Amino acid sequence: MEAVILHGGQGTRLRPLTHTGPKQLIKVAGKPVSQWILEQIRDAGIRDVIMVLGDNTPTRVVDYYGDGSRFGVNVTYVYQGKARGLADAVYKVKDVVSDRFLVYLGDNLVPYDLGKFVSFKGSCSILLAKVENPNRFGVAVIRDGKMSRLVEKPKEPISDLALVGVYGFTREVFDVIEGLKPSWRGELEITDAIQGLIEKGKEVDYEVVQGWWKDTGTPRDILEANSFLLDKHAERRINGVIEGSTVDGRVVVEEGVVVRNSVVRGPVLLGRNTKVVNSYIGPFTSVGESCEITDSEVEHSVLLDNVRIKGVSLMDSLIGNNSVVEKGGRWQRLVIGEHSLVIL
Ligand code: TTP
Repeated sequence: MEAVILHGGQGTRLRPLTHTGPKQLIKVAGKPVSQWILEQIRDAGIRDVIMVLGDNTPTRVVDYYGDGSRFGVNVTYVYQGKARGLADAVYKVKDVVSDRFLVYLGDNLVPYDLGKFVSFKGSCSILLAKVENPNRFGVAVIRDGKMSRLVEKPKEPISDLALVGVYGFTREVFDVIEGLKPSWRGELEITDAIQGLIEKGKEVDYEVVQGWWKDTGTPRDILEANSFLLDKHAERRINGVIEGSTVDGRVVVEEGVVVRNSVVRGPVLLGRNTKVVNSYIGPFTSVGESCEITDSEVEHSVLLDNVRIKGVSLMDSLIGNNSVVEKGGRWQRLVIGEHSLVIL
């Protein structure tokens, strides 16, 4: 069985960060979203991973994952290019998958035992979760314990069980996709493909997942995912130099980090070679590699790699790689892309 991780899409809701790279590579709690997925797949015993690439700097994905050996898996690539829908992305792997395969949306985080997919029943297996706003999702209607139909973004309240971003398929799905027509938004929809399987009388298996899962499609989602992952995985580990500072709780201080005259309260992650001077870093913050934080306060935020901030207070903020914010005062929900300069 292979696992397919989708790296396409337009990522409009995550602009400006997605002007310069695919959203699946945005680091949350120190790793790209799709690396959390890759490791989850590997830990379920699946070794062959296919990355489907979009048209937003796909070389970045290839540069990051290479042949996968660094992560203990075999990675190969298939090019989708323009985002023509999830079913189109799935169709692109037709020539490289065997009879059963897993598809995982590269911007979703679903802490679920993927091992269960290895032996799913029927032609397709999906995960569902109860949501409060079903009109924003593809939803599934269940009758007598069986999947009866799927509806994309329903206007009527027919079900509150949304599809979450992990699917198991057999090759039967390719025949159905060949017969699909684009939806009103011009995409080949995965819900239509699964509905097609149901209409052909095929069995579609499902499970309702309990607990946390996230589609990291917006800055707010990225921050929530960061908080969840830090809370779940951060353990106190101090590898850098701490001078004249208070470092409380579950704080990961990586190699080469210097914390001077500062207060850090976990859960927090400080990436390699980052410097924190005369500053406060509050809970649920991830700071990338080689950042410089001086005379500042940061809380519940994600600073990606090589970010420099000085004389600012940031809350609920997401700062792209290689950006600088100086003398900016207080910010709540500041979202800036890569290579940006904000100086007030
Ligand atoms: P979405 O988040 O639904 O779409 P998007 O990436 O275009 O984002 P936005 O709505 O903000 O513009 O996509 C879900 C996942 O599927 C995401 O990981 C991107 C991936 N995807 C593809 O790989 N190919 C596609 O054609 C589409 C539509 C999505």
